[in-house]
Amino acid sequence: MINSKMPVVYYGGDYNPDQWPEEIWQEDMRLFKAAGINIVTLPVFNWAKLQPAENVYNFEWLDKILDLVTQNGLHVCLATSTAAQPAWMSKKYPEMLPVNVEGKRKTHGGRVNFCPTNPEYREFSVKLARKMAERYQNHPALLVWHIGNEYGNYCYCEHCAAEFRNWLKARYGTIEELNRCWNMSFWGHTVYDWEEIVPPSHLNEMWLDSSGGYPRERTCFQGISLDYNRFMSDASMQCYLGECQAIKEVTPNIPITTNLMGAFKPLDYFKWGLKMDVVSWDNYPSAKDSPGMIAFRHDLMRGLKDGQPFMLMEQTPSQQNWQPYNSLKRPGVMRLWSYQALAHGADTIMFFQLRRSFGACEKYHGAVIEHVGHGETRVFRECAALGEELKKLEDILDSRIQAKAAIMFDWENWWAVEFSSGPSRDLKYVEQVEKYYSALHKRNIAVDIIPPDGDLSQYQLVIAPVLYMVKPGVAQNIEKFVAQGGTFVTTFLSGLVNENDLVTLGGYPGELRKVMGIWAEEIDALYPDVKNQIVMKEPLGDLNGVYECGMLCDLIHSEGAKVLAVYGKDFYAGMPVLTENKFGEGKTYYVASDPETAFIDVLITYLCDAKQLKAPLEAVQGVEITQRFKEKQTFMFVLNHRDDQVDIDLKKGRYRELISGREESGILSLPAKGVAIFQPIG
Ligand code: GLA
Ligand code: ZN
Repeated sequence: MINSKMPVVYYGGDYNPDQWPEEIWQEDMRLFKAAGINIVTLPVFNWAKLQPAENVYNFEWLDKILDLVTQNGLHVCLATSTAAQPAWMSKKYPEMLPVNVEGKRKTHGGRVNFCPTNPEYREFSVKLARKMAERYQNHPALLVWHIGNEYGNYCYCEHCAAEFRNWLKARYGTIEELNRCWNMSFWGHTVYDWEEIVPPSHLNEMWLDSSGGYPRERTCFQGISLDYNRFMSDASMQCYLGECQAIKEVTPNIPITTNLMGAFKPLDYFKWGLKMDVVSWDNYPSAKDSPGMIAFRHDLMRGLKDGQPFMLMEQTPSQQNWQPYNSLKRPGVMRLWSYQALAHGADTIMFFQLRRSFGACEKYHGAVIEHVGHGETRVFRECAALGEELKKLEDILDSRIQAKAAIMFDWENWWAVEFSSGPSRDLKYVEQVEKYYSALHKRNIAVDIIPPDGDLSQYQLVIAPVLYMVKPGVAQNIEKFVAQGGTFVTTFLSGLVNENDLVTLGGYPGELRKVMGIWAEEIDALYPDVKNQIVMKEPLGDLNGVYECGMLCDLIHSEGAKVLAVYGKDFYAGMPVLTENKFGEGKTYYVASDPETAFIDVLITYLCDAKQLKAPLEAVQGVEITQRFKEKQTFMFVLNHRDDQVDIDLKKGRYRELISGREESGILSLPAKGVAIFQPIG
């Protein structure tokens, strides 16, 4: 349980009373209670108010609001407010402001606008966190600590450069080793002294490539750029950990978190997850995102801490302000997406924001209490109805998903795949992962998202789309899994490089060559209007005939693998495009190109069937079904993402539906956007 002091689903979110006169606070309390809210997150952006000058702290207003929320039966996710330093601080310590990738020192403003290695930032933020911990350690409302807010900025200042050199010394020991690992003979980059190393930026190795409508940082030197990302991810984490440590000394038993952002490229969240008491994240899909894309991010966040329940820290009740088109969440969608979070392992449903700001950019951002100021709105009514429902769901807390399928995801691989220009600008790592994830999701097969060095023993099927970078120990991890009977799938461009993006010589897919039983000789990149074909040699389950593929085509040779399909066109027509290799008790599959969705769907169906991975119930497309387990209890979530009513055959099962309290069996009719949570009876 996140905190056993309040054993219910936490429901509430970011509250900014400081933006409002005190008269409004009372009304807030009334409305929060009416909405079933039990937790408020505050003060997320109030450093300037908490510390008006270097040696002056002002907590009285916070005492007051904390007392008020406590009197009203609410609990608090207490934020340390360190995501936006006060203006006086930036002015007095200008080196606290970061230098951007263009080499320009930023000026004060915005938020998360600090250098993550700046000693004064670290000192002041830790000091504030400690003061808050000391002041509120025994506060009855305190449930969780929320540090900073959405970390993730990189800095390229002189101080970061110096810290980077120290970080590199610790990693490589000698300058010779660094030259070797970065392949510095290329373009005569050899360095002889640590001081010669400068951060990779737009002033030297890097540039922003926005081609194809997908902006990504490119670099001439992957070695240094990968290390800079690792270093920057660590540097932000050190900011987080500094505050954590100060707080832990005072309140060792209160869980600490910071709000993550799903598939957010700059930070290696697998490393962060290990250091967090509880993972929390902010879910802001666009109206066009598929249920699978949202589900993937929930599963990714759940995977950061070994499947432990996570917090949905933020979502909007209605609309956002920062997307190209900020559509309203249609009636029922906020509720449906809230339950989707629970269905994927969340134990909280929280919003940004409780009352809609009236000035600055978030005036356009939805809230539980809209600008009109009362509760007679569609959004408020929907929030209040959900609040009422969640009160009945405390049983699901701490229950876990039990997946037999996993997808490998790796931030370092993501960085590496997209740092190099070539072989195709259309290659997007997350999109590739989503394609395979979505094939499992559509079939309602539970999936864990795991790092490549994760424990594979509980899985039957592991898929690693574009496992370009094979870090030390990963090939062995995969070999062991397959030898013991697992099924492993990887795709084109895999096994090419080591953790420094140096090619594993002797033939692709490098360290995976043995387990895959193939050799990839060349890699072709196709123009978007050029396609090749996957021609099945014989049916494999329902996989039969000819499918389209494109973007990248590995030209592979079998080295023991069975050739299941060959290319249909071009000079490599007849070369393998889908192979199956027996390895120990298990099998591996190599998909040498980027296939059309239908191919992936049918392949995944075949592999799931072979391993007897089944959906909890049969349902039409667009109905999502997951299960959470706890001791002897099972909770089955059925979510209708469709715009029409569906009938679901409960077969012989008899269930109690937790939201309505009704007993259900036979055919269940679920309205458009409807939700049911079943517990088997008997
Ligand atoms: C983020 C932040 C919030 C708010 C929302 C708006 O998630 O954490 O402070 O700005 O975005 O969507
Ligand atoms: Zn810096």
